[in-house]
Amino acid sequence: MAVLVTGGAGYIGSVTVERLSAQGEAVVVLDDLFRGHRSAVAPVVPLYQGRAGDRSLLKKILSEHKVEACVHFAALAYVGESVQQPAKYFENNVEQGVALITTLLDAGVRSIVFSSTCATYGEPEQIPISEDAPQWPTNPYGWTKLALERMLAAFDRAHGMKFVALRYFNAAGATERSGEHHEPESHLVPNVLKAASGALPILSVFGQNYPTPDGTAIRDYVHVSDLADAHILALKHLRAGGASDFINLGTGQGYSVMEVVECGRKVTGRPIPIRIEPPRAGDPARLVADASRATKVLGWKPRKSDLATILRSQWDWQQSHPNGYAQ
Ligand SMILES: NC(=O)c1ccc[n+]([C@@H]2O[C@H](COP(=O)([O-])OP(=O)(O)OC[C@H]3O[C@@H](n4cnc5c(N)ncnc54)[C@H](O)[C@@H]3O)[C@@H](O)[C@H]2O)c1
Repeated sequence: MAVLVTGGAGYIGSVTVERLSAQGEAVVVLDDLFRGHRSAVAPVVPLYQGRAGDRSLLKKILSEHKVEACVHFAALAYVGESVQQPAKYFENNVEQGVALITTLLDAGVRSIVFSSTCATYGEPEQIPISEDAPQWPTNPYGWTKLALERMLAAFDRAHGMKFVALRYFNAAGATERSGEHHEPESHLVPNVLKAASGALPILSVFGQNYPTPDGTAIRDYVHVSDLADAHILALKHLRAGGASDFINLGTGQGYSVMEVVECGRKVTGRPIPIRIEPPRAGDPARLVADASRATKVLGWKPRKSDLATILRSQWDWQQSHPNGYAQ
């Protein structure tokens, strides 16, 4: 039996594929490589290049592999881009997602692990954020993820399709093989380290007047291999007949942008020049998870998610892959 991983050539997907394969699971990747990298997937793993909602390609994959479950990462995930080009996000994340999930249901695949996000909460009323907090996204990206969450819940009620929607906070860090390389890169950790190596002349820090101790925004960073392990636990939960659920993946510990920069300076031993820029629209001051449900339901505990370990792992990967996957 195989696990279909959509978006498996992307950042979190490729690490999850790596971890699943290491545990002896058969994996099939479907990725259009629009934002992913072929070399992020080991050559022994079957990789189909195409869109997640391409029904005829999905039927071909389902006829060639005994797919038991799907981990659905494939999505566009830039908040700013989603504000500029909402149609692109609703088409890619919602329309493609609907086509994927209905095709899987028709083929009898009834277990889905879905990449959701803390962006579904919007501006939180309370910190830490629990899964029962109100969800009112502040951008189209968040709405596309919330739409799929609601669809999965409806499919469970109507068809008994089981799912775990994992609401990630901020993924960061690398394994020896796979690291973070987005084009363009909008995430803080790789950019801090690019500024340390000189690949980025200066790091932009967006906003310094947030109501936080140092005025910069606070986020909850989770090591990508801890995130990957949570997907494997979610698959096990579904295999064991566990109920559908929505689960935060964070550590419960937040760090400000300036704390990440300072930690980057310590880990690399290099200066990191910064420039303060205006805050980005729709960027909440503080996003920190109440991560207790992940421990309770999945038995998940982050093991590598302390900030220095995260930064060190991505620094090592960037040093050994100076052009990311583009070499
Ligand atoms: N990186 C984070 O901190 C974070 C936080 C919360 C949620 N997420 C979610 O996790 C998932 C993975 O994020 P990531 O950082 O690894 O992103 P990524 O861009 O590195 O990976 C996404 C992959 O999906 C592929 N893809 C996108 N749309 C597709 C489609 N329609 N058909 C086939 N392939 C498609 C891309 O080519 C890429 O390889 C996304 O769904 C994202 O919304 C990420």
